[in-house]
Amino acid sequence: MEMWCLRAFLLPSTIVFFFFVPQILVQFTYASVEEFTRPTAGNIILTKHERSESEPQQVHISLAGSDHMRVTWVTEDHRSHSTVEYGTAPGQYTTRIRGKHTSYTFFSYTSGKIHHVKIGPLEPETTYYYRCGASDPEFSFKTPPSTFPIEFAVVGDLGQTDWTKSTLEHVESKDYDVFLLPGDLSYANSQQPLWDSFGRLVEPVASRRPWMVTEGNHDVEMVPVVSPQGFKSYNARWLMPYKESGSESNLYYSFDVAGGSIHIIMLGSYTEFDSDSAQYEWLQQDLAKIDRRTTPWVFVLLHAPWYNTNTAHQGEGEEMRKAMEELLYGARVDIVFAGHVHAYERFTRVYDNDADLCGPVYVTIGDGGNREGLAMSYKEPASPLSMFREASFGHGRLRVVNHTHAHWSWHRNNEANSVVADEVWLESLSTSSTCMGQEPSSLKDEL
Ligand SMILES: [Fe+2]
Repeated sequence: MEMWCLRAFLLPSTIVFFFFVPQILVQFTYASVEEFTRPTAGNIILTKHERSESEPQQVHISLAGSDHMRVTWVTEDHRSHSTVEYGTAPGQYTTRIRGKHTSYTFFSYTSGKIHHVKIGPLEPETTYYYRCGASDPEFSFKTPPSTFPIEFAVVGDLGQTDWTKSTLEHVESKDYDVFLLPGDLSYANSQQPLWDSFGRLVEPVASRRPWMVTEGNHDVEMVPVVSPQGFKSYNARWLMPYKESGSESNLYYSFDVAGGSIHIIMLGSYTEFDSDSAQYEWLQQDLAKIDRRTTPWVFVLLHAPWYNTNTAHQGEGEEMRKAMEELLYGARVDIVFAGHVHAYERFTRVYDNDADLCGPVYVTIGDGGNREGLAMSYKEPASPLSMFREASFGHGRLRVVNHTHAHWSWHRNNEANSVVADEVWLESLSTSSTCMGQEPSSLKDEL
């Protein structure tokens, strides 16, 4: 099912066709595997707008440079002000900041007024209460800590289905600090009201913890004349801190957390990545700035996986892998998270298709709950590089305990419950004198 969208991306006339043809939802039924019955794809949840035109909706927050947060929301009333009032006690707003706004058209659709307000400086690990546009309701968020430990929720290919709802409920059932999403957000597929519905669905989660996202193929929405470059809605609604990280595009950027002890790079699978591209040049410069003595952890997120033993989307990340893998390997990136394949898979440390103690751990986590269902089929025999693979909806959690150790766990949506189905302790590559002291090509013999 998902392939049609990628083909449409390559053939603009096709996407116009799909835009005008009502979406056909295919329900998959899966056979039992072991004791766990595979779920069908979830039904789409349409989250209605139940506030007044001037009240904020689709509120979400994102990290925006050191000590700052960007608050984003939409109002149907274009006279609403782009201001955020906030403070550390409910109803007591000690600071008021004015920001920017935008809107866009897509065929006959005109978006609401999309507000972006960057607030701060903020204290770490502190709860702030805030209002948007001087209007109720009041929201609150907690800033991430400036030291270890820190915990990330990692969810790919989210969509807006019954399974999305389950996944988000499971994410919220245990506290965490930052939400990471490696692409494919709303599955609007050019039906713009679905972006609004998605924003309303995720607001209770995304207004209280920062959401850091990168784009997937379902976020492209490339249409001649209307959106020839693509990403019209994604860029307007999900503004990320690209300027703060020296990038010229919202499609790739980086940010620091835990007081600079963790550097996270969000790459773009659907924009240029070759060695003469702006993204490649930016990545080179971004990696060169990292000092692993003060930044022991480096994580990367992108959409189309570079390593994948599922039969779905085979080879779709290969061109990007060939272009950029050496850069990530040379920088001793610790983990690379991808989405796109609607299943979970964890690899060992890999470089250039071989096990390599100094390569990143690769994780595919494209099982957030989208409407296309799960990618059930795997290549056989299993690759020795693939340590765990399972086609189930779920989410991941990365708890970075200290400078040296982090715990990764994958939580399967087991009906109403969330069950840990895979977990592993990881050691930062910055602690390895072997990996930090030798040239990359000389290490394979040690395995
Ligand atoms: Fe995708």
